[in-house]
Amino acid sequence: MKKTNWWKESVVYQIYPRSFKDSNGDGIGDLQGIISKLDYIQELGADVVWLSPVYKSPNDDNGYDISDYRDIMDEFGTMADWEQLLQDVHERGMKLIMDLVVNHTSDEHNWFMESRSSKDNAYRDYYIWHPGTDGRPPNNWESVFSGSVWQYDEKTEEYYLHLYSAKQPDLNWENPKVREDVYDMMHFWIQKGIDGFRMDTITTLSKTPGFPDAPQVKEGPFQPATQYYINGPRLQDYLAEMKREVLSKYDLMTVGETPGATPEEALSLTDEETGVMNMLFQWEHIEADPGTGGKWGEDTWSMPEFRQAMTKWQIELESRGWNTLYLSNHDQPRQVSRFGNDGEYRGESAKMLATCLHMMKGTPFVYQGEELGMTNVAFETIEEYRCVETRNMYRAAIEAGGDHDSLMKAIHRKSRDNGRTPMHWSADANGGFTTGTPWIGVNPNYPKINAERQLGDPDSVFQYYKRLIALRREFPVIQWGTYQVILEDDPYVYSYSRVMDEQTLLVICNFSDQPRSFGWDALHAYTRKQLLIGNYNPGVELESDMTLRPYEAAVYLLQS
Ligand code: GLC
Ligand code: CA
Repeated sequence: MKKTNWWKESVVYQIYPRSFKDSNGDGIGDLQGIISKLDYIQELGADVVWLSPVYKSPNDDNGYDISDYRDIMDEFGTMADWEQLLQDVHERGMKLIMDLVVNHTSDEHNWFMESRSSKDNAYRDYYIWHPGTDGRPPNNWESVFSGSVWQYDEKTEEYYLHLYSAKQPDLNWENPKVREDVYDMMHFWIQKGIDGFRMDTITTLSKTPGFPDAPQVKEGPFQPATQYYINGPRLQDYLAEMKREVLSKYDLMTVGETPGATPEEALSLTDEETGVMNMLFQWEHIEADPGTGGKWGEDTWSMPEFRQAMTKWQIELESRGWNTLYLSNHDQPRQVSRFGNDGEYRGESAKMLATCLHMMKGTPFVYQGEELGMTNVAFETIEEYRCVETRNMYRAAIEAGGDHDSLMKAIHRKSRDNGRTPMHWSADANGGFTTGTPWIGVNPNYPKINAERQLGDPDSVFQYYKRLIALRREFPVIQWGTYQVILEDDPYVYSYSRVMDEQTLLVICNFSDQPRSFGWDALHAYTRKQLLIGNYNPGVELESDMTLRPYEAAVYLLQS
């Protein structure tokens, strides 16, 4: 089935502006920095840029805490800089999508400052206030960033709800005025000419009335409570209204951040008639690792579980719906460290992971630095970490008697700052990111892993990404073919086919650091076998029984 839209044929490049490129030496990435690197993104072949938030913000959560939706963060530049960026993106035939963060604002947003000032302020009901019970918070819900979701506010002696940090109070979507203001703001940016939104934590807008306590599933006073605020009772109404009032009036790319979503939910959220967004970020494949310890627990990632999650989504969204394809973003560790091998086989495994993802059906998202095979970082002290989630988790865990060394180990593996160290542009000081002092430490491996070096090296990870993206544009089977997993029990080799008309694409990826064999009987049916791309030179001959080198990946075009 081949129903096309521009957003299905795009490749998105995600920019985390604070860490991308600093133009004025203050150590913080900015809009002029981004403008100076648009050629680089174009060279890669991406045609949509997603900007993580650039709105005014006190940066408790690096821009995901917005104090003015209609203005630009001082450190990033001015509205004029932003307009120049949009124009330069469009002049290249590229598109720009912005982050839409409307589950919460900053506590420094004017609405919240009004809201907290008195119980009868006109903005009081813009947020979720509660008197508490017997001098305690209204319930035991745990914040995504540790501790209670409730923050006591002295001035009016009530608690406000914040799913994320205490400086990110949740908006009260039950209030029609909040919704109207949000829709107005969306029109404001669309009319400025943006091409879409990435919708931050969009399925948490509606909270279960009465705020019931969550069941005790772990030690301590606060309990995970996602079942009371993900896909809450009025979410569908709000989203339908947003569609009616805003989205249906334009041709946009919309992609929702939807932790925990199932394929059934995805189909309803993205239904062409009744859904509200084009596609969403499902989480199953990147969460194919937490054991009982959750995000910070033991690493139990396994390729077979990952393959199962990917396969499930490829198949369930085959005829309706559309997948996003991603392994990294600003909230996740670096993919090569997490799913590949960031030592001896860094280059090979970075390319293998990219092959596995980019040959699937959906819209690929590349997160800045991923295309260089950038790796996790291991800062020695907790003070070097900037991420509010990481810092809060560490503090809460230490208070609860946790052990410093094992916490640091977990942080090295999972902290969001892994993906937020500055982009490596060159072997110059600070990776060419800034001439000043960077706001967060630079990964010390920049002299080896950097854009300048890779642009001039035909075997680099960057050049490989570029070829993968070009192949997607050249071969309709990559864009549209039907996905089928091959040898679904193999513990090391992930292989699948994509079929369209007379063409079959065969994708083979060795996820291990050892040679592995691949044997596929069905190969006899094909007479023509052409190697389209592979991460070893020379590539591997396709045989019905063959040996793959460590982290080897190869893609063949087959014809009978
Ligand atoms: C989303 C963002 C994340 C942010 C959170 C709160 O998960 O991707 O970076 O911290 O929402 O806005
Ligand atoms: Ca700057």
